[in-house]
Amino acid sequence: MNKTNILDIIKNMTIEEKAGQLTQLPSMYFDIDSSMLTGTACNFDIEKKWLVGSILGKLDAKSMRAIQTKAIEKSRFNIPIMFMTDIIHGYKTIYPVPLALSCSFDKELINKCARLSAIEGSAAGYQVTFSPMVDLVRDARWGRVMESFGEDKRLQSDFGSEMVKGYMGDGLDKPDSLAACVKHFAGYGAACGGRDYNTADISEYSLQNDYFPSFKACVDAGAKFVMAAFESLNGTPATANKWLLDDILRKQMNFDGVVISDWGAVNELICHGVAQNELEAGKKALESGIQIEMSTTSILQNATLFIEQNNELEKLLDSAVEKILLLKLELGLFDDPYRNISEKREKECLYTQEMKEFARKSACDSAVLLENNGVLPLKPNSNITLAGPYAKSCNLLGPWSIDGEIENVISVYEGLEKSELNINNVYQTDFEKITDSEIDNILESARKSEFTVLVLGERESWSGEAGSRSDISLPKAQIKLLKTLKNHDIKIIVVLFNGRPLDLRKVKKHADAILEMWFSGTQTGNAVADLLTGKANPSGKLTMSFPYNVGQIPVYYNCLSTGRPSELLTNEPRYKSHYLDIPNEPLYYFGYGLSYTSFDTNVKEFNISEDITITVDVKNTGEFDGAHVIQIYSKKSVSCVSRPKKELASYEKVFLKSGETKTVKLTVKNDIAKIWTQNDGFMFDSGEYELFLDDKKYKIFIDNQGKFKE
Ligand code: GLC
Repeated sequence: MNKTNILDIIKNMTIEEKAGQLTQLPSMYFDIDSSMLTGTACNFDIEKKWLVGSILGKLDAKSMRAIQTKAIEKSRFNIPIMFMTDIIHGYKTIYPVPLALSCSFDKELINKCARLSAIEGSAAGYQVTFSPMVDLVRDARWGRVMESFGEDKRLQSDFGSEMVKGYMGDGLDKPDSLAACVKHFAGYGAACGGRDYNTADISEYSLQNDYFPSFKACVDAGAKFVMAAFESLNGTPATANKWLLDDILRKQMNFDGVVISDWGAVNELICHGVAQNELEAGKKALESGIQIEMSTTSILQNATLFIEQNNELEKLLDSAVEKILLLKLELGLFDDPYRNISEKREKECLYTQEMKEFARKSACDSAVLLENNGVLPLKPNSNITLAGPYAKSCNLLGPWSIDGEIENVISVYEGLEKSELNINNVYQTDFEKITDSEIDNILESARKSEFTVLVLGERESWSGEAGSRSDISLPKAQIKLLKTLKNHDIKIIVVLFNGRPLDLRKVKKHADAILEMWFSGTQTGNAVADLLTGKANPSGKLTMSFPYNVGQIPVYYNCLSTGRPSELLTNEPRYKSHYLDIPNEPLYYFGYGLSYTSFDTNVKEFNISEDITITVDVKNTGEFDGAHVIQIYSKKSVSCVSRPKKELASYEKVFLKSGETKTVKLTVKNDIAKIWTQNDGFMFDSGEYELFLDDKKYKIFIDNQGKFKE
């Protein structure tokens, strides 16, 4: 089979057969039960189901082989089906949620997470994953911040493209690869009020400079799909937004893959008020650039009709079918529709020792130490009381871990029990109801222990899709437990499990240490034990600011200055950009994270050529081995437009044994000067820039060709 054959097939397909290729149905319609519905089910003529070009959701090797066999039999041209699902942070073996992974500041780690996920997912029969999600996020009320890589476009771009490459491995023709679908295009994370699916109003200045770059990076890295977002962007739903899906994605970003709608989003054009009925919805989506309709059948059921009304639409249909069939060709599905899957391979590839070890390492490397007055790390044989809603719970996989297996999860109790710590007592509590007698029992045990470890946080369901919250603080019962213990001078280590930045003012006030674990996956308990005992040294740095409180949202580090910056107008009591009741600064800022050790950085060389290369000697000056993230920020104080107060320009992570020194090279590229403006489009913003590395500052000059000058 080759491209010529594909074009011949298309010439001989009926409109309905073509429309079938543009249709994706959940696996639940194909004799597979328990497919997770992430939207409403659709009603359609069930007999047409074998026309579909792809299936999403629950699957295994046996069921994929059965469905594929039947689908090919039913197809006049023996066209195989593509199988897709949400492998977001692991498949069976679950790694930390993407927001946690991003705090590792480790591109290789994130690439490996995708690679291992692809080995598992492809063995179960999938060829495509709806990942990476690279929505820029600045609003912790939104439940899906856990699925993103935070508030910085460089990290979103770097980590998103590493995932695309990790999924692809040695190429899509290899049976252990997955094609990546980057999502949600675009601006979904800016939902008004942090309420999921809500409208987003974003200037083109911000779209082009903040929200689009990560999608361009993933397209350049080889993403084969782009998923259109649910929301209405600047008044037009992304699913029917030709400017977005054609002018920007196709023409500006040179994307030549397949654009897929989100679940039910084509039919949702009716609720958005831009389509009268399903026929109009299907037609409008196709005209705007949608090429696969997920989980509804407006195109399938109406294509013949709307092409009769306007035969120009058949060209769009043909172009979509060509892209879809050529992708199936690239995936090797015409040669081997089963891509070498078998129950034997599936059994061998799931939850291997390498995956378990990586799950433990990635959970350690994604954790962020927010506070530590010296209580951590705990010495061997320390005796502790363990209490809280996550003491024995195994609900630690986090949202979007559909195929994760809770029976494989290591709870905190299990992990600590195997460690060198002595657990005097363990108390599994509720999230929101902790009775006074429970608190009394915990206090009684705490008084007989050296330390108390409180494992607190959010329920898994309080973040993820449709998991928006107006209050981002911990439940009152958890704070009451913490305060009661503190009032009795108990030494308290708080370990947090949550899917978003929280309002931690009260935790900061009463805890001796705070370890942010996020939702850290299958090996959580072992990772917590490694981190609390110092076997692993926390090295994570926040990639999303923790607001002082929910009223401060949106708060993010790379914001523009204002005409009345409060940090400069210190003598002005009122007329400046500030709050009357809280500070402007977040409680914990982007790039922040503590360690058990300390580091010294000494710049050896500052070299200007095509790029800027900064050579740094980093020394571990403390008693614990550990990893350090060197961060370089850039700033342009005067420009033709307002520029961010600072932007991450480069970063490197280096592991050092206690007392060890290593030389690290960091590169600053001219992308720090590449901006988009309303008047000039994309340009190099020439002029003087400052670079900051810890307390050191350097001035550099970039010309309008993007060349660095002395
Ligand atoms: C969901 C999500 C999307 C996911 C898709 C398939 O509604 O918005 O991210 O990939 O449906 O599950």
